[in-house]
Amino acid sequence: PGKHVQDYGYRHVLPGEHVYDGVLFFGYSPPDILDAVKNFRVRDDDVFIVSYPKAGTTWMQEILWLVVHDGDFETASKTPIYFRSPFLEFKDLTLNEVGLDIAHGMRSPRVIKSHLPFRLMPKKLDKSKVVVVFRNPKDVSVSYYNFYKSSSSFGDFTGTWRDFLIMFLTGKVDHGSWFDFTISWWKRRHEPNVLLVFYEDMKRNLKGEIRKIANFIGKHDLSEDVITRIANHCTFDNMKKNPMTNHEDVYSINSKISPLLRKGKIGDWKNQYSVSQNEDFDAVYKEKMKDIDIPFRYEW
Ligand code: A3P
Repeated sequence: PGKHVQDYGYRHVLPGEHVYDGVLFFGYSPPDILDAVKNFRVRDDDVFIVSYPKAGTTWMQEILWLVVHDGDFETASKTPIYFRSPFLEFKDLTLNEVGLDIAHGMRSPRVIKSHLPFRLMPKKLDKSKVVVVFRNPKDVSVSYYNFYKSSSSFGDFTGTWRDFLIMFLTGKVDHGSWFDFTISWWKRRHEPNVLLVFYEDMKRNLKGEIRKIANFIGKHDLSEDVITRIANHCTFDNMKKNPMTNHEDVYSINSKISPLLRKGKIGDWKNQYSVSQNEDFDAVYKEKMKDIDIPFRYEW
C-alpha cells in the first residue's frame, strides 16, 4: 500500500472473511469451491466473462447471453440472468445457487461469470473465449462501496466511505485487490482467446462494442437488427426495469439501500471522492501500476 494509505492505520476485519492464496473472499466463495474451480471442466465453446466486481459484469452477462443465443429474448424474459449465466465461484444454498453445479448441468454454449484473478481461474482456459470487462477504478470503488452497504454477503459492513476506500486500496475487499486482478488480466490481453472491453466504451457506443464482442465469439452473421435490439434491451433504464436483470428478487441485496443498477454513469466518483482522497488514490495507483499503462478514463 502507498504511504498515504498506511497513514490511516486502519485494520479491517469483517465476519465471514477468509483468505485464499492471498486473496480475500467471503463465505459465498468457500475454499472447497475455489479448489474445485481450478479443476472445472472447461468446454471449448464456453464463453467466460471475467471482471472485477462492479465493473459492469451483469451488463456484459445479459449482452453476451443474448449474442450467444442469437437474440433469444423470449428465454431471457423468463429466467434471471444469474441462472442463465452462472457465477463460477458462487455457492449460496439459500438461493439454491451453486455456480459450478449450474454450469455442469448446462447445455453448450455456456456463458460463465467469474471475478477471479487469472491465477485462480480454471487451469485449462486456453480454448474457450474470455471477455474481460474493465471499468475505471474510481467508479468501481464507489459502486463497490454502495454494494457493500446494500449486500448482506459482506459481514454486515457498516463502515464509512473513508473506511471502504482504504479497504479497496489495500485489497481488503471481497475478491481481493483491484490492482492484482487488473494486472493479471491486462497481461493476457493479446492472447487470441481474450477480448478486453471497457465499460466506458460500452457507454459511449454500445452497438459498436456488441458487434466487436459478437465477432470475437464467431457470431459474424448476427444481423444489424438483432444487434440493435440487444443494445436497446441492455440500456441502463431497461435493465433496471427488467426483473430478470435487476436482481431485486435477490434476498442478499437490499435494493432500498442501493440497487444493483444504481446509477450506471461514468464519473460518479466525483460526487464521492474528496480532493485528498483523490490524491491518495492517484498516489497508490501510480505506485501499483507503475509498469502498466492502461487507458482508463476518469472523466469526460
Ligand atoms: P453503479 O453502481 O455505478 O451504478 P456489476 O454488474 O459488475 O456488479 O456492476 C454493477 C455496476 O454496473 C453498477 O454501477 C450498475 O449500475 C452498472 N450497470 C449495470 N447494468 C448497466 C447498464 N445496462 N448500463 C450501464 N451500467 C450498468
